[in-house]
Amino acid sequence: MLQLRIFSAVQNCRCSYRSFHSSSVTSKYADTLEILGDKYHTDEITNVTPSILSKIPLQVHKQTGHPLNTLRSIIESHYPDFSHFSSFNPLVTPFKNFDELAFPKDHPGRSVTDSYYIHKNLMLRTHTSAHEVEVFSKGEDKWLLTADVYRRDEIDGSHYPVFHQMEGARLYSADASGMKQVEEDNERLSRHLKMSNIIIEDIPHISPTNPVQRTHDPVHSELVAKNLKLSLNSLLLRLFGSTASEEPLRVRWIEAYFPFTSPSFEVEVFFRGKWLEILGCGVVIQSTLDISNVEGKIGWAFGLGLERIAMILYSIPDIRLFWSTDERFLSQFKDGEITTFKPYSKFPSCFKDVSFWNAQGSAPLHDNDFCDLVRDVAGDLVEDVKMIDSFVHPKTNRSSSCYRINYRSMDRSLSNEEVNELQKSVVTRLTDLFRVEIR
Ligand code: PHE
Repeated sequence: MLQLRIFSAVQNCRCSYRSFHSSSVTSKYADTLEILGDKYHTDEITNVTPSILSKIPLQVHKQTGHPLNTLRSIIESHYPDFSHFSSFNPLVTPFKNFDELAFPKDHPGRSVTDSYYIHKNLMLRTHTSAHEVEVFSKGEDKWLLTADVYRRDEIDGSHYPVFHQMEGARLYSADASGMKQVEEDNERLSRHLKMSNIIIEDIPHISPTNPVQRTHDPVHSELVAKNLKLSLNSLLLRLFGSTASEEPLRVRWIEAYFPFTSPSFEVEVFFRGKWLEILGCGVVIQSTLDISNVEGKIGWAFGLGLERIAMILYSIPDIRLFWSTDERFLSQFKDGEITTFKPYSKFPSCFKDVSFWNAQGSAPLHDNDFCDLVRDVAGDLVEDVKMIDSFVHPKTNRSSSCYRINYRSMDRSLSNEEVNELQKSVVTRLTDLFRVEIR
């Protein structure tokens, strides 16, 4: 599952078979949790784990020299006349994360299997768009906001339950003078892009399946969508235009769906033989601007994934490295410079399988519950987790699952004993918390 795709139509389809059931494990939570110095009560849907909570104070996107910080400042310097924010609190209400942005009540992103909740009315933001209304309400017309975001997900080299996004937005007056400004800006950007060495596959700004909003003049919407694309193509040229490769960079625009933009798009970059999704964007829906008390304006917003882009630019092969405190990682980078990461060594991996019968009468354990449990035991020593088998016993109707956990440290060789201990803890927790029966 692509991290940016979680709120798009594609993800919607993939999730539709999921139920809202979570094998929630209330017994493991104290009555209160302390986060950034404040205390919060827990309830029956609390599902944040200690390993997730430990990431909240780290703020790697603000550490001098860290690749994510350098990338953030390069993007900020590309938008010099925008306001730049990077210190918003990650704890938000579900209202702010979803309702203000017109997410339907039954959107899968709201479920406890996909998002981290402190309690019913407080969660870790799943995207930087959660702050759109707050920033527009301040009267900001052009702004960038960088933040850590949290999503329950599978474990592999390009997924991590905490990652960083950068939200950007630009509003114009929805009148002749505003549109003249958009046209001038579009002219300037088009001229600049003519000289680029990137190949951009484009699609119409507006199509029947990706409609103009009812309250918008189609000509205005077209101009603003064009402005959005030109502005982002120019950013992509800034970021990828000078990568020393024989092949020109290939970028493609595709249609997308987000509840809070229309028309909506995604951008993918061709990297190591695969199309990688790096951002979602679109023309901001009217209701967001109405809630923000913004009148007579029209504009766009985008949200991009910083890790994905940094992995391409720095050739960083594993997303866990962004959290490394190893000097062999950190000392390679200079503030403000993009350099190619030199792997210090690839240490051996060791996999272990665990098969179990799910508790009688319950739905199979959710992948994300299993992954969070493993992450909590093994931290960044787990490289990936895959379900390798599942079936339902024809007579007893009990379901069985088998997962393969691949352990590998990025810094050292793991001993057999150490891995066995980790695996033992995984098995113990699994039986304690989810009442499964090991096979
Ligand atoms: N918030 C969206 C995501 O995380 C990305 C997005 C931002 C889309 C702004 C449209 C506008 O997937």
